[in-house]
Amino acid sequence: MDEKIEFKPFLEQPQALHAEKRYKKPSGLRKQLGLLLLMAMTAFSLFSTWSCGQTQSTKVDKNVVVGAYLKAMETNNIEEWLKKYTSTPQTAGTNFPMVQWCRDKLEQYGFEATIDEYEIYMSYPNSSALSLLTNDSVVYEAPLVEDVLEDDPDTSGDDLVPTYLGYGGNGNVTADYIYCNYGSMADFAKLEKLGVSVKGKIAIMRYGGIFRGLKVKFAQDRGAVGAILYSDPGDDFGITPANGYKTYPDGPARNPSAVQRGSVQFLSFLPGDPTTPGYASKPGVPRSDPFYSTPRIPVLPLSYRDVTPILEKLNGYGPNVDEVIPAEEDTSSDKFTGELPGYDYSIGPNPEATLNLYSNQIFNITPLWNIYGEILGENQDEVIIIGNHHDSWIKGGAGDPHSGSAVLLELARGLDEVIRTTGWKPKRTIMLASWDGEEMGLLGSTEFGEYLADKLQRKVIAYFNLDVATIGPNLEASASPLLHELFRSTLAKLEYPKGGSLYEHFKAFTGDRITNLGSGSDYTVFQEHLGIPSIDMGFISAKGDPIYQYHSNYDSYHWMEKFADPGFTYHNLMSKLLGLLVIEISESDMIKFKLEDYSSSLEEYYEDAISGIPSKWLEQEVSLMNMHVINGLFANRVSSGEFTIPRYLQTCPQMAEFGSVPTSHHHKNTTFGDLLGSASNSLKQLSNTTLLFDDKVLLVQDQLNHWDELSLIQKIKVHFTAKKYNAKLKYIERAFLHYDGLDERSWFRHIVFAAGRYTGYAGQTFPGLREAIEDDDFDRAVKWLYIISQTAKKVNFNLSV
Ligand SMILES: *[C@@H]1O[C@H](CO)[C@@H](O)[C@H](O)[C@H]1NC(C)=O
Ligand SMILES: *[C@@H]1O[C@H](CO)[C@@H](O)[C@H](O)[C@H]1NC(C)=O
Ligand SMILES: *[C@@H]1O[C@H](CO)[C@@H](O)[C@H](O)[C@H]1NC(C)=O
Ligand SMILES: *[C@@H]1O[C@H](CO)[C@@H](O)[C@H](O)[C@H]1NC(C)=O
Repeated sequence: MDEKIEFKPFLEQPQALHAEKRYKKPSGLRKQLGLLLLMAMTAFSLFSTWSCGQTQSTKVDKNVVVGAYLKAMETNNIEEWLKKYTSTPQTAGTNFPMVQWCRDKLEQYGFEATIDEYEIYMSYPNSSALSLLTNDSVVYEAPLVEDVLEDDPDTSGDDLVPTYLGYGGNGNVTADYIYCNYGSMADFAKLEKLGVSVKGKIAIMRYGGIFRGLKVKFAQDRGAVGAILYSDPGDDFGITPANGYKTYPDGPARNPSAVQRGSVQFLSFLPGDPTTPGYASKPGVPRSDPFYSTPRIPVLPLSYRDVTPILEKLNGYGPNVDEVIPAEEDTSSDKFTGELPGYDYSIGPNPEATLNLYSNQIFNITPLWNIYGEILGENQDEVIIIGNHHDSWIKGGAGDPHSGSAVLLELARGLDEVIRTTGWKPKRTIMLASWDGEEMGLLGSTEFGEYLADKLQRKVIAYFNLDVATIGPNLEASASPLLHELFRSTLAKLEYPKGGSLYEHFKAFTGDRITNLGSGSDYTVFQEHLGIPSIDMGFISAKGDPIYQYHSNYDSYHWMEKFADPGFTYHNLMSKLLGLLVIEISESDMIKFKLEDYSSSLEEYYEDAISGIPSKWLEQEVSLMNMHVINGLFANRVSSGEFTIPRYLQTCPQMAEFGSVPTSHHHKNTTFGDLLGSASNSLKQLSNTTLLFDDKVLLVQDQLNHWDELSLIQKIKVHFTAKKYNAKLKYIERAFLHYDGLDERSWFRHIVFAAGRYTGYAGQTFPGLREAIEDDDFDRAVKWLYIISQTAKKVNFNLSV
């Protein structure tokens, strides 16, 4: 730890996320006068355009816009962008020239571009060592470097990034070690059942299953003094040398020396700068202790080649967990046994073998830079943000993040070409964002979201995320259900290179399943902290495809060009898909959200969540104490924030009101079962309402499509209805925020979507309720049921009027 930094204990910090500001409703009379004035003005403007017969004259038809964009994509510039981006290391906060290059590129494409700086707590690698000792003498020293490959320039040079785990603690420990499988809660539970403790030992865990930082957290919580994470060939879908596959660069299998770097932040507890929970890391802000969301123990990542001599020493010591836990008692699908050649998966420890693990990183508070480019739309109160990060773990980073960086530039180029060739002005404002520090903990996007929370919540319609945009030929996506229909209908408009439509491919590959957002990329702050509907998508590798050399030197330009996307066909397809999605959501008069997809998903998640409720709860009465806990939960709050850029964020519309509805007080003998029924009924009613609402929106859109045929009175009516419905659509996701946040991780405020607390990457639906059930906590379950029920009621009420 750098001694210059002074931290205050976490709990003493002002938490901006609890800052509250109730917005004032205009008084009834003022509201009516305002409305009359507005109607008169609108009538006048509608009349003047109407009387001149020019209503649509400044508008470029959406099909023309789409055509011009697809025409621009007939040129494929991915190779150029990817070569540039993979030419130098881009560890967060270290490569300002590349940041300027990206800003200049956006400017060149006609975007108003800015660089936004934050001061963020970071760790950088300094030195590390790992040795194996038997009877106190060193028998093996792990090299901790990856092989230089002649074919691949990104693997050599004096600018290679060391193998390390961001935010890992500093230390030099010598201890026994044991194998803890994936390091999940279930794995540690099995070890505990067998009476094996990791206390005072070094935990060796393989990558996979859950987010790496949580593995370290779970080991540290159980007293481990250090941790090692390695890539096991058993997690390579059979693409292994044992099965006859050659390793990179000669074939599709993982290079044996490949090391997965990464952050060990406790992602599902707090993303963003660990020292500024819930508020932005701008100069001079108070800082708190980072250990709420980062480990204290030293950790190192290893290749499977380097871990082999270490794990081999455990052969025959301690049980093989899969052999001693009878299959019928094994509730977890994760077997302990992997496929590391030479290791029998005995967990250890070997009393004669110890490890010396030394890791030193330099911690400091340092500038990080986001880059934004914007095109102002006709309506500057409605903004679409498309983002991808620019920092990487290595010199190359062709897949992560630069497949996304390259596609983002293609989007900029395409939109520019549309504007230049057709004179188009987008209906809504379009903002491109290139985030810094995603790899260390979603830093740039989270700080931005915290800095501008209030304004973003008032203006942003949707957020589109790219990260690993293309590392194979298979499309997958995670999204808010509001965006499902938009996504599917856009896929249907594109062709898949191997035949059929992109939608047909997607159905075949995923079973038409768009998954829920969890965490692990920059959409997190938008969806789960601010309630802005988001989508994350990418072409991934699947069973049978070349193994993704994730966060290793071999995620390089050479690997991408030779194995993952020769000819950059799928990068090009992603550029088309992204552009069409942006155009569709920008140009549709009525915001393209399908509410019924949301409500039917809610019913599904709810049924699933309550299936775990213990039957003994059903008859249990909900006491006054429970009611006290939930009293006053429904203030209509938005967080505050000061800001000057960008321009279109300076004035803000008022959020549509999704305030509380008058609630009926519960009678004395309300049982938990009654509450369950009531929540379920509210969700069913919501489904009925959304179905009707979607129809009403379609009708308005249809009228807008036939604008010229409407009378002036009809025009006025349709104009106001469209405005009213769009406001409801725009803010509906916000209505699902609970501003006090989830229990014990209050940064996460969405009542439906959060990163799983024990998984990190994988999403959890109705997290508050599920966690209460998991923890066998009746009072909390009551609280969350009530929140769910009331939220459904208020949304239902607001959509019905
Ligand atoms: C970096 O590592 C070296 C070698 O272990 C050590 O001597 C030095 O103090 C470290 N630097 C910092 C700033 O901690
Ligand atoms: C360690 O020392 C013990 C006792 O002297 C001896 O039995 C054992 O073989 C030694 N182990 C190794 C790996 O050298
Ligand atoms: C770490 O500890 C080992 C064993 O005590 C020692 O040999 C080594 O010099 C230490 N390394 C550093 C950099 O302090
Ligand atoms: C939903 O609509 C159906 C059909 O109109 C109706 O039968 C049902 O009672 C409604 N359910 C709720 C909960 O309002």
